[in-house]
Amino acid sequence: MFMTFRRIRKCQCMQLVTTCLVLSVVMVCWEQMDSSFVSHVKSYSHRYLINRFVVINKSLTIPREQARRFSNFRYLMDHPDKCVGEDILLLLFVKSSPENTERRNAIRSTWGNETYIQNTLGATVKVVFALGAPQTKKEEPSWSKRSGVGFQNQLFHENRLYGDLIQQDFLDSFHNLTLKLILQFHWMHSRCAHARFFMTADDDIFIHMPNLVKHLQDVSSRGVMDFWIGRVHRGAPPIRNNDSKYYVPFEMYPWVVYPDYTAGAGYVVSRDVADKIYQATLTLNASLYIDDVFMGICAHAIGVSPQEHLFFAGEGKAPYHPCIYDQMMTSHGHVEDIYDLWKAAIHPEVKERITWLTGRLYCTAVKLSLLCKPYYLDTYPCKAAFS
Ligand SMILES: *[C@@H]1O[C@H](CO)[C@@H](O)[C@H](O)[C@H]1NC(C)=O
Ligand SMILES: *[C@@H]1O[C@H](CO)[C@@H](O)[C@H](O)[C@H]1NC(C)=O
Ligand SMILES: *[C@@H]1O[C@H](CO)[C@@H](O)[C@H](O)[C@H]1NC(C)=O
Ligand SMILES: *[C@@H]1O[C@H](CO)[C@@H](O)[C@H](O)[C@H]1NC(C)=O
Ligand SMILES: *[C@@H]1O[C@H](CO)[C@@H](O)[C@H](O)[C@H]1NC(C)=O
Repeated sequence: MFMTFRRIRKCQCMQLVTTCLVLSVVMVCWEQMDSSFVSHVKSYSHRYLINRFVVINKSLTIPREQARRFSNFRYLMDHPDKCVGEDILLLLFVKSSPENTERRNAIRSTWGNETYIQNTLGATVKVVFALGAPQTKKEEPSWSKRSGVGFQNQLFHENRLYGDLIQQDFLDSFHNLTLKLILQFHWMHSRCAHARFFMTADDDIFIHMPNLVKHLQDVSSRGVMDFWIGRVHRGAPPIRNNDSKYYVPFEMYPWVVYPDYTAGAGYVVSRDVADKIYQATLTLNASLYIDDVFMGICAHAIGVSPQEHLFFAGEGKAPYHPCIYDQMMTSHGHVEDIYDLWKAAIHPEVKERITWLTGRLYCTAVKLSLLCKPYYLDTYPCKAAFS
């Protein structure tokens, strides 16, 4: 009796000492602790404990006449008849910079080949590129190929060849990406409103078109609404560090957390959502230049929230492996390897090998080893190994 009592006392004492030690370490290090960690804690607590989103919506609502300045840019290239008279499964906008001709060509001859999609997958998908006006570089003479005017002529030429460039005359720059987002939803509203799905993607993305088309056909046959899938960011804090590409000043966005949104690398919404987003852009202040966050704000204003799809990538590149290709939807950061990846990913052997039980078990093991790494790797989440 006495012995157990003493042991308990000793245990409690040790616990107390450890707790004190941990607390003092935390208190001493608090100042030095990464400020991004603190902002994540803050943003999470706001997202889950205090709902400030109503305020966000109200503060960013502006009169229609003022919101119009984010969308009334002149079209330099347009294709009003692109969608006329066709049953379109997916309208796919690729956000491309004028100078990325190589990337556009790679997309046209791999996953973005409309003829291939029609003939092999039996679906009508329209792939178009959203562009702003090229930057004029002051130091270069006007007759130079890369200068604004000369380069614009090259774009006209490219457009005559392929007929898939949609361009407005705002300056194409990182900080104008929200204008590009608005361009896409407005174009869909006026030119392609009957497409069943809308997707927007970066020009360095790889899309496994057969998997995506199949998924959207399944979803479409069930007649879903309020559909929005991608890699979801929940409770992300604005970045207040000046050096970051994603820096957002306090005056532009004073709250500690963004509404949930999907990574701009690539996401899909259903027709009804696209239409409501269009409506939201008519009354929101689009000064916030991070386009995927702005999409989150629009979606919040219309009451739609994103759903995570395990095989949509955020910043990261998917591992190269047939077991991954079997389920992959998008993977980010592909430029030179896009031709090889496309060939490997749609190879019939991928499906054949995996349909057998042994193939499935083997793939689960492979995915576990590829996706469930102890260190942080921004590819598909570990959960994806079990799906
Ligand atoms: C697209 O696919 C079709 C049929 O598969 C092929 O004939 C055509 O050359 C491809 N287009 C490009 C740009 O590679
Ligand atoms: C965005 O485009 C507008 C219109 O061309 C231009 O005046 C503005 O400077 C651009 N903003 C940025 C940050 O590039
Ligand atoms: C942020 O950048 C501006 C210039 O763009 C500079 O004047 C200012 O000092 C910077 N602030 C911090 C905290 O680094
Ligand atoms: C939109 O927000 C910006 C700051 O991000 C602000 O300067 C501007 O005045 C706002 N526009 C309107 C019409 O309220
Ligand atoms: C956002 O604000 C608009 C205009 O004030 C309103 O119509 C809409 O219902 C609001 N949405 C939410 C989710 O509060």
